[in-house]
Amino acid sequence: MTTTELTGTELVTGIGELTTHDESGERRRDAALVIGAGRILWIGSAAKAPAADRQTDVDGRAVLPGWVDTHTHLVFGGDRSAEFEARMNGQAYAAGGITTTVDATRAATEEQLVATARRLRHEAEAQGTTFLETKTGYGLDVASETRSARAAAQVADVVTFLGAHIVPAGMDRRDYLDLVTGPMLTAVRPYVQFIDAFCELGAFDVEETREVLLAGRAAGLGLRVHGNQLGFSGGVQLAAELGAASVDHCNFLEPADIDALAAGTTVATLLPACDLSTRQPFAPARQLLDAGVTIALATNCNPGTSYTTSMPFCVATAVLQMGLTVGEAVWAATRGAARSLGRDQGADAVGSLQVGGRANLQVLNAPSISHLAYRPGVPLTDAVWREGVRVGH
Ligand code: NIG
Repeated sequence: MTTTELTGTELVTGIGELTTHDESGERRRDAALVIGAGRILWIGSAAKAPAADRQTDVDGRAVLPGWVDTHTHLVFGGDRSAEFEARMNGQAYAAGGITTTVDATRAATEEQLVATARRLRHEAEAQGTTFLETKTGYGLDVASETRSARAAAQVADVVTFLGAHIVPAGMDRRDYLDLVTGPMLTAVRPYVQFIDAFCELGAFDVEETREVLLAGRAAGLGLRVHGNQLGFSGGVQLAAELGAASVDHCNFLEPADIDALAAGTTVATLLPACDLSTRQPFAPARQLLDAGVTIALATNCNPGTSYTTSMPFCVATAVLQMGLTVGEAVWAATRGAARSLGRDQGADAVGSLQVGGRANLQVLNAPSISHLAYRPGVPLTDAVWREGVRVGH
């Protein structure tokens, strides 16, 4: 993949449908926009478009914000296709599979880890992803987690520390928690903005998760939680209680979990590709939205439970299988996702197209965003700009 630097300003015309996620929530049909210095400089009616240094006519195609993928695990070694195939043959997913990737990640060089993560990031960009979070969590000792965090920081826009993924083989639980909340946290701190914990049977219970999250908060990190993926783990309630930025998975929810999310600010990040790949029930997206919960959609790209970088696939699945409208799914994969990172407002906002905001946008090879679900599985990404730079592929 190559990128081309643009100089000056660029006027994008011929837009068949423009989704900005502005206050009106409308999709505009007569719009044009101007990009310059990595920002959106102007949005308005095509008839009133100002002159620019260059012009790109998108010939009736739909334009929308680039995807914001807020849950990935791109720093890993090895392959788990055999585990996937066994699962498709009827074996259940269990948290213990993570150990396979931990062994392979420790055996890889830092260059190999960066190369894998970079390849996946490029794959995501080619499908319209312009802002991406990734996590550590396959190192699980101080040196390997630090290496993973450093590799992640070279590739992703936001990095999350997931030392509390599982207790690694051969470690005492208490000793490991002391490591994660002590020397490991200190070592990764320069590279990360969030802390996360896998609150699940086979990983960490609610009180252990609380301890990890509070240590991260004390170190100045935002909070994310893997919660209620495989059962009623209590992770969702804890995330809401602590005001975490996001609780991810949310497959098994009691009414009280939904009420707790609706009463707070925690975004529920749903991972439809993971639900398919692990044969878990889909997260109750419709119920969450109807209760007033903010939702995000993400790929959860990782070698164990969801080896895809495709946000369009997640959007199509959310519409076709989880009961969302196209507009709701696209919002969740852009602005809702940005909210879960604290990045949906202000000059550094992503996931929306606003004058003064980042020029992170994509053009679909289709006249409307409805085609994302209407034509599932079809590669519809036509062009992508990241901070005003056209991403070529
Ligand atoms: O989000 N649930 C925990 N972590 C990953 C899976 C990790 C793995 O199985 O390698 C997830 O699904």
